[in-house]
Amino acid sequence: MLVKELRRKFLEFFSERGHAVIPSASLIPQEDPTVLFTTAGMHPLVPYLIGQTHPMGKRLASVQKCVRTGDIDEVGDNRHLTFFEMLGNWSLGDYFKKEAIAWSFEFLTDKKWLGLDAEKIFVTVFTGDKTAPRDEESIGIWQTQFAMRGMVAKVSQTGKDEPATGVKGPRIYLYPKEKNWWGPAGATGPCGSDTEMFYDTGRPHDPAYGKACHPNCDCGRFVEIWNDVFMEYEKRADGSFAALKQKNVDTGMGLERTAAILQGKDNVFETEIFSGIFGALADLSGIKYGRDEAHDRSFRIVADHLRTAVFIIGDEHGVTPSNLGQGYIVRRLIRRAIREGRRLGIKKTFTDQLGTVVIDEFGSHYKELETNRERIVSELKKEEEKFGKTLEQGLKEFEKMMKDRVISGKEAFILFSTYGFPLELTQELVGERGGNLDVEEFKREFEQHQELSRTATEGLFKGGLADHSVETTCLHTATHLLHAALRKVLGSDVAQKGSNITTERLRFDFTYSKKMTAEQIKEVEGLVNDAITKNLPVQCEEMTVAAAKKSGAIGLFEEKYGEKVKVYFVGAKPDYFSIEICGGPHAGHTSELKKFKIIKEEAVVAGVRRIKATIG
Ligand code: SER
Repeated sequence: MLVKELRRKFLEFFSERGHAVIPSASLIPQEDPTVLFTTAGMHPLVPYLIGQTHPMGKRLASVQKCVRTGDIDEVGDNRHLTFFEMLGNWSLGDYFKKEAIAWSFEFLTDKKWLGLDAEKIFVTVFTGDKTAPRDEESIGIWQTQFAMRGMVAKVSQTGKDEPATGVKGPRIYLYPKEKNWWGPAGATGPCGSDTEMFYDTGRPHDPAYGKACHPNCDCGRFVEIWNDVFMEYEKRADGSFAALKQKNVDTGMGLERTAAILQGKDNVFETEIFSGIFGALADLSGIKYGRDEAHDRSFRIVADHLRTAVFIIGDEHGVTPSNLGQGYIVRRLIRRAIREGRRLGIKKTFTDQLGTVVIDEFGSHYKELETNRERIVSELKKEEEKFGKTLEQGLKEFEKMMKDRVISGKEAFILFSTYGFPLELTQELVGERGGNLDVEEFKREFEQHQELSRTATEGLFKGGLADHSVETTCLHTATHLLHAALRKVLGSDVAQKGSNITTERLRFDFTYSKKMTAEQIKEVEGLVNDAITKNLPVQCEEMTVAAAKKSGAIGLFEEKYGEKVKVYFVGAKPDYFSIEICGGPHAGHTSELKKFKIIKEEAVVAGVRRIKATIG
């Protein structure tokens, strides 16, 4: 089954069951500065999952474009992608577990739809903890569903050490929050336990990954294809979970992985999704895919990275390559692809040609790519011309620098500023030679040359997870001050609902039921400007979520469960002006913000207000 048909069948299945098909939202989140890109279909639906009325109704389905940048370095193996499409269906306070699970299973196994063998499907369910009980309901529903297909679905009590030996072994596996819970992407938000469906590829278990195999084992035998999340809680700013007014369903199925399974491939790059790009790459390089692992890896990196770059540049809120935020990610993707292209022996400009192939391939479904065809192709060309001029010379310089197997921070900075090598590319080159790179020294160099604060530099190089221009960094700090001031003036019920920063202004959405009075606005402005005049220090500490809560931090920005979080303190002990969990980056001192001004206060929806403000 080709992806075109898979998309169509998915939407048809859910339309038949009363779902309105909604278009894919932009890859660039419009409401949430905590993430650079849309990473799941639920992301644009958060306001509706917490109670706002969706104009299309209570049952929705979509094919959402997603970008996940955390794994850029992993791309090259058989399954990692930076861009992927997510098939999803939602219930906004309508149906719940029974229908969601039954429909997922029907779509996967019924001959009319995907027709996968039910014997090969294994599922996982939340095992329960102090905050939420074991999901007995889903276990029962799955057992009924398997029984309807003549199968006995045993439950693995441990979820870990019982081998999944086909029909005789357990079919339902229990895991804790780390695996079977979907948390909010931002500080607060809808969340709940989930049940995931895995496909057994039949590959033998690799004991290097543990004694026994199980669905969440990483040996490659099981592939996760679908996740049904039951969003019935809202994570609050103090870290507690409250029942949502409505019980929602949020599901996500990976299009590329499912297509690979349907096509009998154990590699997403061997589906028809990549065949056009691979064909063009073979023509350009004179090398066929499948020659050897090293060349295949380059094929996959070029194909994945350029596909992602095309979608980001061609998005309805498209970004161009730059040294800022999302632009820096596009730059990294394109430059890494160019370097891999050179390894395949391609000497001439090629990214524009491959970009055209990607647009031809996906433009019929994603019309924005057609609309922006010229811009995409010319941006790729421009970026390649820029980097192409310096790449070869830069590699020569790199070889010289590498003679002692160490690249100093200064040398890495020369490669960055003179030859256009993103830090991560130099890191990769050094890694390939088993050498060392002084990243800290690089950052010091970077700070000096760009006149950035340390926090701003950290923000840029930690996975590029921040827009790091001086203006946006200061606006980010201003957002913390505003949040704290609003709570002082309007009361501690004020909670952040969303935030968005451009180089010109900040936008902050928060819960409050009335229009603010002119006096209140003045008072909030005054408090923030006082904090600026006092030139308070901004300091960051890493701690556990529990310790952060104890310190009185607000705005829980959820990192992975159980991990340490960063807490930003503005002011001095014991009278901090603001304590907030956040990924950064921030200004070093509040005086960098100069002057704070609220330019607008308005309603977003009932109970939520929006402030727009500037600094400088
Ligand atoms: N939000 C869930 C996921 O991304 C289901 O859509 O897996």
